[in-house]
Amino acid sequence: MIRRALVKDVKEIKSLNDRYREEGNLLPRSLTDIYENVRDFFVIDEDGKIGGCVALHVVWEDLAEIKSLVIDRDFRKKGYGDRLFLTAMSEARDLQVADVFALTAIPAYFTARGFKEIDKSVLPHKVWAECVKCPKFPDCDEVAVKANVSEWFATYGAKFGTEEVA
Ligand SMILES: CC(C)(COP(=O)(O)OP(=O)(O)OC[C@H]1O[C@@H](n2cnc3c(N)ncnc32)[C@H](O)[C@@H]1OP(=O)(O)O)[C@@H](O)C(=O)NCCC(=O)NCCS
Repeated sequence: MIRRALVKDVKEIKSLNDRYREEGNLLPRSLTDIYENVRDFFVIDEDGKIGGCVALHVVWEDLAEIKSLVIDRDFRKKGYGDRLFLTAMSEARDLQVADVFALTAIPAYFTARGFKEIDKSVLPHKVWAECVKCPKFPDCDEVAVKANVSEWFATYGAKFGTEEVA
């Protein structure tokens, strides 16, 4: 099942992030950071085993970021990535956030799911406060991708269906 993360999941979320950080070019996340933002996270819970996570972080009145989308290797190719992706989009819709963006090393994953590449410089300065923590800063090789939430659901909602969050 997919459910909201609980405080007890934080260490496993960090472990997922650490294990696949290199593969996904993910921003390192400290335990403090994850505890403070635990309400952003959703996890896959299969009989108590955490198989993946995603976070939706609200940035501003009209903008949220999809972060930390990771699926454990044993859980891949089962559609969990798309289910978590849809969960994050649904959360954005429920919060009535207009646009969602991601900074990613695999833009093709997002563009195949209706996101468009954008110039990073159009993102609000607030986003860069976190980038300063990245070891690669200021030589960022991530690509920014963005989608309008209502347009996304109008076009892709039927394809992705609905996701029940426990
Ligand atoms: C990307 C990821 C979340 C996908 O998980 P998953 O859905 O279980 O993976 P699957 O193997 O079932 O692949 C699902 C889809 O993702 C696509 N995908 C997987 N890895 C990809 C990559 N590196 N680049 C582009 N697309 C990728 C697959 O092509 C597939 O697309 P399709 O459904 O159109 O055929 C997972 O590979 C992962 O955790 N990677 C490491 C961390 C990462 O890169 N996160 C994204 C950072 S923003």
